[in-house]
Amino acid sequence: MRLLSTKATCNSHGQDSSYFLGWEEYEKNPYDEVLNPQGIIQMGLAENQLSFDLLESWLEKNPDVAGFKRDGKSIFRELALFQDYHGLPAFKKALVDFMAEIRGNKVTFDPNHIVLTAGATSANETLMFCLAEQGDAFLLPTPYYPGFDRDLKWRTGAEIVPIQCNSSNNFQITESALREACEEAKKRNLRVKGVLVTNPSNPLGTTLCRDELNLLIDFINEKEIHLISDEIYSGTVFSSPSFISVMEILRQRNFSKDSHPDVFDRVHVVYSLSKDLGLPGFRVGAIYSENDTVVAAATKMSSFGLVSSQTQYLLSALLGDKKFTRKYISENQKRLKRRHRMLVSGLQKIGINCLNSNAGLFCWVDMRHLLKSNTFQAEMELWKKIVYQVRLNISPGSSCHCTEPGWFRVCFANLSEDTLNLAIKRLRSFVAELGSGHGAARSAAQRKSLTKWVFRLSSRDREQEER
Ligand SMILES: Cc1ncc(COP(=O)(O)O)c(C=O)c1O
Repeated sequence: MRLLSTKATCNSHGQDSSYFLGWEEYEKNPYDEVLNPQGIIQMGLAENQLSFDLLESWLEKNPDVAGFKRDGKSIFRELALFQDYHGLPAFKKALVDFMAEIRGNKVTFDPNHIVLTAGATSANETLMFCLAEQGDAFLLPTPYYPGFDRDLKWRTGAEIVPIQCNSSNNFQITESALREACEEAKKRNLRVKGVLVTNPSNPLGTTLCRDELNLLIDFINEKEIHLISDEIYSGTVFSSPSFISVMEILRQRNFSKDSHPDVFDRVHVVYSLSKDLGLPGFRVGAIYSENDTVVAAATKMSSFGLVSSQTQYLLSALLGDKKFTRKYISENQKRLKRRHRMLVSGLQKIGINCLNSNAGLFCWVDMRHLLKSNTFQAEMELWKKIVYQVRLNISPGSSCHCTEPGWFRVCFANLSEDTLNLAIKRLRSFVAELGSGHGAARSAAQRKSLTKWVFRLSSRDREQEER
């Protein structure tokens, strides 16, 4: 008898992706300024650690909230008892107001149409569970967040079909790419159930423009399918063009529940406080949908990933403080902008360019000129050198299903300015060394693990050639 179920052991989890293996390498030898200055610097983690001081100073000024008190009296017992899966009304109201504020109050959200989940991970999986059967597929523009292979496919049995985007138009979504993805799904005997986009994009750090959003709405309207917009990075937009939510486009086109119920009922937004507030450990996410049936099904599902009542209590007070949230959003964006500029200009000075971006906690970095050949095998060789020789964990484009070798996602908001400068300094020496043709020798152990990678990527190159 097998110990584990086929679901638990099937490889659609994607944990052997270089995205997750880079984290493992970092864990074995993490950089620390004092204790391990030669260690690996973590630049593969999209965490926002730039504005903790603002949150901490709010907590200091509001000691009752973290002490589980209301008007000076303990509410410990109230919070400790069982909560139903609908969530605390005060928290849902504070959360939808915060989401509206991030969108410049151009749209409003009804708290009755929100489902609370344990992060966006749970929100995306729940939506997939509710909308897709085995044999159904969602179309996703490439490059995409590597966690989606796990979140969307693993437990639900749904499939992802890539919408192939490329650097010729800065990875924008085109109508022909959407239609080709549909053809690809047909070839694979999959029914297309919807499109899922991240706006702003992880890993590109760019926002979808009005034309792309209109194209997506027209496409789902024509095909009678769903659109999920994962807007987890909506509060990180630090430069123009400003963020446009899919809900804003629906409003501007006068699509409403009465005029276009079919479209309106098939657009769903995912949100989370993991990035904008930098609280991934609190596990707070949400699904927003105007479709009552979807909301009811997702609410039932949310039993598997509720947000704890003490977290909801604390955050309803914090997000309910409008003066604070306004200041937080703008200050956090200023800090992200500064960091982004530091990374982009530091890389530029050593001849490495980034895709023009205006959001997110990372840059999409073009290292195609550093590849030995235009293959994913060469990308993996370069990545291994950057992890072991330069000692930076960055994420190769192949882990995000990018179709062009040589792109990497580099995070800038989870480390200090000094560490970021050190990372750029290390990369500068490496690029100079590459230029002068002196490759550093790798240890036997590193070479062995490189062989494993090169083998895996060679098969991917071969598969691409065969297509
Ligand atoms: C696009 C996207 N969606 C979802 C998630 C998961 O977020 P959470 O921590 O809220 O589960 C991430 C995290 O990196 C992400 O980048």
